[in-house]
Amino acid sequence: MVIHIVLPDDLASWVGTCRKARLPSNALPNPLSARFMTPAPPRSRQPRPSGRKARPGGKPQHPGAAKTPPDAVRLAVVRAWLDFARGGPFAAEPPVALRDDAQRRLYVQLLRGMVRHRRLLEAEVARLADRPPNRVDAEALALGMLGLYQLRFLDMAPHAAVFETVALAPALRKPWARSWVNAILRTAQREGLRGTDTAQPLPLAVRASHPDWMVERWTARYGTGRTTAICEANDRYEGAALRVETGRIGPQALLRRLTEEGVRASRHPLLADALWSEQLGAVLRTQAFREGLCYVQDVSSQLLMAWVAPLLEGRVLDACAAPGGKLTHLVGLRRPGTWAVGAELSAARLAQVRENLQRLRLPATPLLRADGRHLPCADRAWDAVLLDAPCSATGMIRKYPELKWRKHLEDLPAFAETQSALLTEAARAVRRGGHVLYATCSLEPEENEDAVQRFLAAQPAFRQRSFADLPRPAGLGAEPRSLLTKDGALQLLPGPQQMGLYAAILQRRGA
Ligand SMILES: C[S@@+](CC[C@H](N)C(=O)[O-])C[C@H]1O[C@@H](n2cnc3c(N)ncnc32)[C@H](O)[C@@H]1O
Repeated sequence: MVIHIVLPDDLASWVGTCRKARLPSNALPNPLSARFMTPAPPRSRQPRPSGRKARPGGKPQHPGAAKTPPDAVRLAVVRAWLDFARGGPFAAEPPVALRDDAQRRLYVQLLRGMVRHRRLLEAEVARLADRPPNRVDAEALALGMLGLYQLRFLDMAPHAAVFETVALAPALRKPWARSWVNAILRTAQREGLRGTDTAQPLPLAVRASHPDWMVERWTARYGTGRTTAICEANDRYEGAALRVETGRIGPQALLRRLTEEGVRASRHPLLADALWSEQLGAVLRTQAFREGLCYVQDVSSQLLMAWVAPLLEGRVLDACAAPGGKLTHLVGLRRPGTWAVGAELSAARLAQVRENLQRLRLPATPLLRADGRHLPCADRAWDAVLLDAPCSATGMIRKYPELKWRKHLEDLPAFAETQSALLTEAARAVRRGGHVLYATCSLEPEENEDAVQRFLAAQPAFRQRSFADLPRPAGLGAEPRSLLTKDGALQLLPGPQQMGLYAAILQRRGA
């Protein structure tokens, strides 16, 4: 016989939670008693879900119970999430066992969604359970988060999302969690909250799922309004910018090609030569993409390269080249008299540069495996060095949400040290009058303006030039000065159709 025990204190706290949340009285689910938060209690003591009658034989009737095999996609997602949450690698690619395209897309969508909205989902499961997240069993928490993500962010039938999610519990060796997760998700379903809406106000860092340190620093620098906009832009990745291989096709002609292949795209509002599509997966499957008529590259990088193109002439070294976005851009300009070389520390990533050059059918370009801190070249050998340095990448969270949980404030000094060594070496390699173009995709001053100021203090032979000294890039859809810092560096913050980027022009004095 199954005994359904309701502990008064659990019931009282649940009722309190409902009142605070102004939930209707019929939102009261099966009380989520303390034993549900901990590893499986002995079978005979497991409560059954509210409103369900025990079946003959004494076993509770769980949703998704027995028989139905667990959904392979969601099971893979929960396993990947648990590995990641325990500090393991982020399995961005679906497992090979998931062969079907639709399954692979769902895997990416669900896992990225859980990573992107981690703090909100954890907080909401905790609220519904009336427990802090760290007192909820890891597998049960993961299932609750996965279910909530589907209910809040996806347009799928809620009952199917709940059913498929709770059915995973036995495969995770937590069969008891079925009714716990079911109760949570049914309550969430009744509440009907969508997206990042919450029943009670939550701090921005929790609602928008960012680490406190990022939100605190950005708020101090940019104010609450812009920080909220950055976080909201980071939490939406609904499209991607495409660079048109203008040496082979114009933007309008590429738009037509994509339309013929069934892909919606449009001109990018920040840079008319760039395209924007909310169907990136479909773009990657087009013949136009396979023929190398476009490259997926954020508009911020495209704008940087369009703006500094007049300085990248003669012998140009890209000292941190992989995966080749900026190098292929430069080579694609096919300018007579410009000879570009790519250097990169990682052999595997250097191979990506080679593949991209080939897919884009660009002229053969020398590639070199080298440490940019010790370049194998004579002093002042290059007319320009492009230094797109490794960094904390806090401007790239839109595309790589896992960065939020993998980058830490304590990492910044190590990045700054590497950037300083790379800048010093790039300076050695540039001729008189030549330029070092320093760029990061970070929003942190230690890696940007502070790094440049430290460099200028140590290298009096260099001066910083303003982007405003250069011709306005063709097709720019913004007032140039609005994109520049007081020192004349380019600074783009993450927005609905762009990622964050910082770039400074450093010139060696003399002719
Ligand atoms: C921000 S990414 C460059 C992106 C590239 N410029 C593009 O547009 O596609 C930085 C690159 O620097 C490489 N890297 C890191 N440390 C390096 C070093 N000491 N020397 C050369 N490359 C390095 C990383 O492997 C990474 O590929």
